[in-house]
Amino acid sequence: MDRSATDALDAQLARFPRLGLAHLPTPLEPMARLTAHLGGPRLWVKREDATGVGMGGNKLRKLDWVLHRAVREGADTLVSGGVVQSNSQRQVAAAAARLGLECHLAVYHGRLPAPSADYEVSGNVLLNRLFGAVLHDVPWTGERNAAIADLARRLAATGRRPFVVPYGVSDAMGALAYATTAVEIARQADARGFVPAAIVHCSGSAATQAGLVLGAAACLPGTGVVGIDIDAEPARVRRDVLAYGSGAAALLDRSFPEARVEVVAGHAGPAYGVPHAATIAAIKLAGRLEALLLDPVYSGKGLAGLLALIGEGRWRAGADVVFVHTGGTPALFAYRGALGL
Ligand SMILES: Cc1ncc(COP(=O)(O)O)c(C=O)c1O
Repeated sequence: MDRSATDALDAQLARFPRLGLAHLPTPLEPMARLTAHLGGPRLWVKREDATGVGMGGNKLRKLDWVLHRAVREGADTLVSGGVVQSNSQRQVAAAAARLGLECHLAVYHGRLPAPSADYEVSGNVLLNRLFGAVLHDVPWTGERNAAIADLARRLAATGRRPFVVPYGVSDAMGALAYATTAVEIARQADARGFVPAAIVHCSGSAATQAGLVLGAAACLPGTGVVGIDIDAEPARVRRDVLAYGSGAAALLDRSFPEARVEVVAGHAGPAYGVPHAATIAAIKLAGRLEALLLDPVYSGKGLAGLLALIGEGRWRAGADVVFVHTGGTPALFAYRGALGL
């Protein structure tokens, strides 16, 4: 860890206001039983599922920063969207409930076939309703932000003051917020006496990876950041990491370390949102050995990717590797059938 570079980045990031909804720092824990099961490398988990509000997840860290502007500007309504079981929109709904704002969500149908009857009513859908969000069913067109913008326009026309949260809470500010995770990992690892060989996580709308790459380049210059593509769109993920990362770096007057962006393809299964055997096996392993609740769309595929890289001998047995558990726990209940449990 580069202590002075970490302190300098932390001081720069501290100048950006945030709401403080998320429970931070999230824990960094050893995965001793999974490590023993695999025979190394030494595995750690950064518990971004434990951000506290509304069953947690990686989006709350971004929302802390992005929604500060909504409150400052006097918005009365949050507008966002995602697929039926989106963790992102559930965290927006939870934040809206905490802030006393209305929440309207464009719910995209048709990006994937519903895997079970539970899919339409349980998991994140149940929580969205519990948090009081208004759900608007729209068809998936591949344009992630179009229906969200359209919904915001319609609400504004009725006199509301909507604030748009982009798909996946991914934009330059979301990426900047996520650089704080790298600062936390650097300090927590340092306190435990190690420097990670790599930080591995699943990558989708891309601001998580953009922030980790930006942060790690400063705090942990010897540590690779490995994004596992779960969208089956590695080229699009890479493009978005570069776009949001460059935007975030510009806000700090830094340049984005493009050469450090690694997006690993081949672990998304047959399609976005469709778990394959390796995902299900990874979810069951994490549950049985570490009592971790991974999900079939994101973090389960992320761990499946990490296990495959370990199987290929990417790291020596004594190396330390940090897996970022980005959340997604509620979706487990919407995919009960796929788990065969
Ligand atoms: C549980 C979970 N993990 C990972 C991600 C991916 O993060 P990002 O969209 O910032 O790439 C998401 C995004 O929706 C998610 O819900």
